[in-house]
Amino acid sequence: MLQDETPYLKAIFDYIEKKPVRFHYPGHKGNLISLDLTEIPQTDNLFIPEGPLLKAQELSADAFGADYSYFLVNGSTQGIHSAFLSSFKDGDKVLVPFFSHRSIIEGIILTGVKPVFIGEEIDRWGIPQNVRLEGLDRCDNGVKGIVITNPNYFGLTPELKEIVEYAHNRDMIVIVDEAHGAHLHFNKRLPSSGLDAGADIVIQSMHKMGISLTQGAIIHLKGERIDKNILWENVLLLSTTSPSTIILGSIDLCRRELAVNGERILDNLLSEIEKLGYKIKNTGFSLYEKPDMDRTKLTLYDLDGDRLSERLWEDFRIQTEMSSGTYCLFILSLLDSERTLNTLFNALKKIEPLPARNFIPPPGYELVRSPKIAYFSLKEKIKLTSAVGRISGEIITRYPPGVPVVIPGTLITPEIKDYLLLMGRDYVSVTLD
Ligand SMILES: Cc1ncc(COP(=O)(O)O)c(C=O)c1O
Repeated sequence: MLQDETPYLKAIFDYIEKKPVRFHYPGHKGNLISLDLTEIPQTDNLFIPEGPLLKAQELSADAFGADYSYFLVNGSTQGIHSAFLSSFKDGDKVLVPFFSHRSIIEGIILTGVKPVFIGEEIDRWGIPQNVRLEGLDRCDNGVKGIVITNPNYFGLTPELKEIVEYAHNRDMIVIVDEAHGAHLHFNKRLPSSGLDAGADIVIQSMHKMGISLTQGAIIHLKGERIDKNILWENVLLLSTTSPSTIILGSIDLCRRELAVNGERILDNLLSEIEKLGYKIKNTGFSLYEKPDMDRTKLTLYDLDGDRLSERLWEDFRIQTEMSSGTYCLFILSLLDSERTLNTLFNALKKIEPLPARNFIPPPGYELVRSPKIAYFSLKEKIKLTSAVGRISGEIITRYPPGVPVVIPGTLITPEIKDYLLLMGRDYVSVTLD
């Protein structure tokens, strides 16, 4: 297919170029932003795409290696929820990494599945390690599927091909949360994408490693395990009926950029990152490196990352993605270049990092009730100091590194109470019965 085109974006521009008198929503009538339209015949309809939007979605499927692709305007979160609703039923057992994003926990709540947590490690710097095949030993015949993250926030990747093969041999559905990996398919120097590894559903945030506007994402489907009509219905169930034409147009643009220029841009970027990594290490910083990792996520560790982040902002107006007392994470995308990487290096050269603070690992949790039942129970908000022995009715995650400290159904232990107090929480929502 001709990946040069952006049929959806073109339809929007064609419309506004005609300078129409708009007797349709949105009420700002184009005065705020002219590209912000509604679903009129000229711009197609997300609920029944049959013109430029359908074409744009077909181009996406072709570019990323899927059978079908659907655009999302509520981020990967919407895709992950839709994937759960399309794959699992109440009571199904599903394998999920312990350090999963909250949207996966929400999928568990929405569907009522029984999570079987894969106990990945978290290292002494607080960086969650990704899932290895051997970590699936708790997977018995009754497991319906696995929801795996590729890569994680720090660029670490699971043993994806092996895990997909293992899961499919047991007739399990494989869903890949690829919120941070929209670029993976477009350069061989990067780890494998979920679709290339043969996963059934893959969800990608175009606004993270692509270049779409915030909230832009795509859900991809491959193979016969999931009914495409059911997936589509669930995508719509969780969608606004007034999707932003600007977000949809930016997804179209992002797909073209990745498909047409992605390989070349990523080649340059990866070479620049390699050079930067070398220079950074020579300056005395520790750069987080693991085999088969996505190096567009750059983590400096074994230092006070919060302090480094503050210095970068205060003295150089450089803003990092996230930091802690032990690391500092920089996200690089298609739009970074030798220039931006040099700016970062020139700033780092002038900073003497402070020693890392002590990382306190999260206490872990035990589920004593189904997350769905606990979430939908009658609940009360109580002071944490009197919450020990009660069952959480809410998800509490810590950013960084996005670790779920409790989810609905968790028994609140003294260790969890202390950890939440340390996080600055005073109250927690607990079940009443
Ligand atoms: C691993 C992971 N999955 C899913 C999401 C949700 O993505 P979105 O913000 O596009 O909804 C995030 C967001 O940070 C994430 O880090």
